[in-house]
Order: sequence, then structure tokens, then C-alpha cells
Amino acid sequence: MEKGNKIRVGIMGAGTMGNGIAVLSAINGHDVIVFDNNTQVLEKAKNESIKAIENLHSKNKLQNKSPQEVTSKMYYESDLGMFGICNLVIEAIVEDLTIKQVCYSELEQIVPEDCIIGSNTSSLSIASLSSSLKNPSRFLGIHFFNPPVVMKLVEIVPSLLTDIKILTDIKSLLQSWGKTTVLAKDTPGFIVNRIARPFYTEALRIFDEGIADIPTIDWAMKEIGGFKMGPFELMDLIGNDVNYKVTESIFEQSYFEPRFKPSITQKRLVEAKMFGKKTGRGFYDYSLENQPKPNTDRKLGTKIFNRILAQLINEASDSLLFGIATKEDIDLAMTLGVNYPKGLLKWADEIGISNVINQLQALFDEYGEDRYRISPMLKRMADRGWKFYN
Ligand SMILES: NC(=O)c1ccc[n+]([C@@H]2O[C@H](COP(=O)([O-])OP(=O)(O)OC[C@H]3O[C@@H](n4cnc5c(N)ncnc54)[C@H](O)[C@@H]3O)[C@@H](O)[C@H]2O)c1
Repeated sequence: MEKGNKIRVGIMGAGTMGNGIAVLSAINGHDVIVFDNNTQVLEKAKNESIKAIENLHSKNKLQNKSPQEVTSKMYYESDLGMFGICNLVIEAIVEDLTIKQVCYSELEQIVPEDCIIGSNTSSLSIASLSSSLKNPSRFLGIHFFNPPVVMKLVEIVPSLLTDIKILTDIKSLLQSWGKTTVLAKDTPGFIVNRIARPFYTEALRIFDEGIADIPTIDWAMKEIGGFKMGPFELMDLIGNDVNYKVTESIFEQSYFEPRFKPSITQKRLVEAKMFGKKTGRGFYDYSLENQPKPNTDRKLGTKIFNRILAQLINEASDSLLFGIATKEDIDLAMTLGVNYPKGLLKWADEIGISNVINQLQALFDEYGEDRYRISPMLKRMADRGWKFYN
């Protein structure tokens, strides 16, 4: 691949993520070609990127460039043929395996032979996406977080067929854009979306069981756990439709692993189109002037926080055991991708791995559900008196 800002970037899909990645590339000095098969979307995206760039300029976030300098690098095209001069194409179209595969077959006839093709997919298998390409060795997952200009983390996900040489090229390119990259195995949800699942599913379970109400669970995670947002606030912000679908997809792709089991409560919200902030109603009703108050009993709050944290650490430990990422990348991913106050494995060391095991054992004894089985990684660490970090 070319080096530095000589790299010409093609972005496929001018939606939320595609347009964000396009702005990011242009700020970093690349010529960017943005394609979408919907010309209205393309027009809207162009106007939105102009606004976003002006806004970043007002916050001094354009690396000393003028807004005109950045916008002049961006070309919105309804003709895929322009990708014939790209060195890197990042696909951010609708999350649908067949649609993406059809797109790649067309794309491969146009782009140069050494053009790297990355997908921003959140939940699809990189191996199955790459199977539609004649040359799958040039293909990988490049998973940005929303909004791409702001969020520091990018998960790099090779498939079984990816040429490992391109990983180094992509990593250094992303680092030159100020991003921190982590390397993830091609498994459902990669690192962040997988390990973060219990934050939502365990909170929903606590609510479903009537242990605490929604504001109390959110309060506990913020006040006692130090999280920036509570699980229900976050689900409402992400959108219950999106969040539910991600959980369901990871649950199905992992052959129905009980730890990822979606909640009927959230499904009902989705069915009622109570998607959260964007529709005005989700777990909270955003038309209310005053939201319901939490129960600020610290004993209850600690019980809630400990339970959710133990499940998060269990998931992080299992991800390490199954080689989804290194311990450093797991901790980095959760702090940068979803703003957790600490890396989960570091957190386990701090509170004591035996304490985490005791929490999980108590849940397993109470419910007898596989959902609470303890990761062998944690058991082995505790048996040997080891910590994740020395
Ligand atoms: N939204 C997020 O928070 C987020 C975060 C990380 C990754 N992702 C992933 O990024 C991708 C895009 O998500 P989004 O939220 O930007 O979606 P979006 O719906 O905002 O945008 C998708 C765009 O793709 C276009 N499109 C659909 N089919 C096309 C085709 N065949 N050719 C060209 N363009 C086509 C649509 O017109 C639309 O503009 C998905 O794979 C998603 O899983 C989303």
C-alpha cells in the first residue's frame, strides 16, 4: 500500500459511520471518495460533513487545517467506478451479509489489485464476508466506534485468509490518524461488543427479577461503579432496536451461549418501537420533566454493581482464555471503546480474583444456570494465586 496521506481512501456507504470515517480520513490529509447507492443520502451526507467539519474547526480539532482544506479533499460520488483509484476502501453499508457480499464482488472488479478492503461490520463474520472476494487475503475487519472522529478505538479483525502483512499497514495508518488499535479474533462481537454484553443482559436480569428498578440499577453502576452511564441510559442512547439486535446476533452466532441470552423485556420495548432517546421513549420517558428517583441504598447498589461487574470480568476472562485478544488489548478496548472506568482484568486484580469467583459461585449456587459458570481462566488464576498483571 502507498504510505502516508498519499493513500486514497474510498468509503462505501454514506450513513452515520461511513460519513464519519470519511471526515476522519480527510482531516488526516487523504483524498476521500464517498459512495452510496442512494443519491439523497449522498447529498445529505455531504451537507452534514460540511457542518461537522465547521464544528470541529470551532473546537480547534482540525489539526490546524481550514474547513475548506478538509472539505476540498472529500468527493461524494454516485459512480462506483471512482474507486478504481483507491488504495484502501472501507465499507460501511447496511449490516446485511448478502448485500455486503454483492457489493464486494462489484467492488473487486473496479479497485486496483493491491487495494485493501476493510469492513466496518459490528457483528458479521469477517470470514464469510471475505468469501465473496476472489482475493480474500486483502480483506479484513476495521471496526470503528461511533462517532469515528471522536472515539479513539479501532478493532482490527483479520479473517483466516487475511494476509498478515496488511495488518501492519492498516495499524500504522490508523495510528497516524490518532487511533489506538486492538487486534481481535474473528468471533461474534469481536472484543467490545462481546465483553460488554453482560453490562446490559445482567442489568436487565436484575430488573426482570424485581431486585431493583431501572433508575436504581443505573445509579448503582454510576455512583458505586464509576461508569459514565448506567446500562438502561446507555441502551436508550444506543437505541433498543440496535442494542437488542446485537445481543440477539451474538447469542445466535455463539450457538446460544446462555450468557448472551437476550431479554424479553427489551424485545417488548423494540416491538412497541420504544427505541430510546431517538423515539422519545425507551426504558425512560424523555417527555417527563423529572425522571423517577433511584433508591440510593448503598448496600443494594453494591450488590447490583458487584453482580454486573463479576459477569463482565467473567466474560473478559473467557475472552482471554479463548484467545480473542491479549489481556492488554481487552482492557484497552473496554476503556476506549465503551469508556469503562478501568480495564476489567485490571479491575479483577484490584478486587481480588477469589472475590470475583465467590460472587459468581454464589450466583451459580442460587440459580443453577450455566449463565453463571465461572471461566476456567479465573479458576486457574485463583488456584495459583496469580494476577493478570504482576
Ligand atoms: N452505528 C453505529 O454505531 C456503528 C458502530 C460501528 C459499526 N457499525 C457498522 O457500520 C456499518 C454502517 O452502519 P451505519 O450505522 O453507518 O448505517 P447507516 O444505516 O447509517 O448507513 C448505511 C448506508 O449504507 C447505504 N447502503 C446500503 N446498501 C448499499 C449498497 N449496496 N451500496 C452502497 N451503499 C449502500 C445506505 O444508503 C446508508 O446510507 C454497519 O455494518 C454497522 O454494523 C455501526
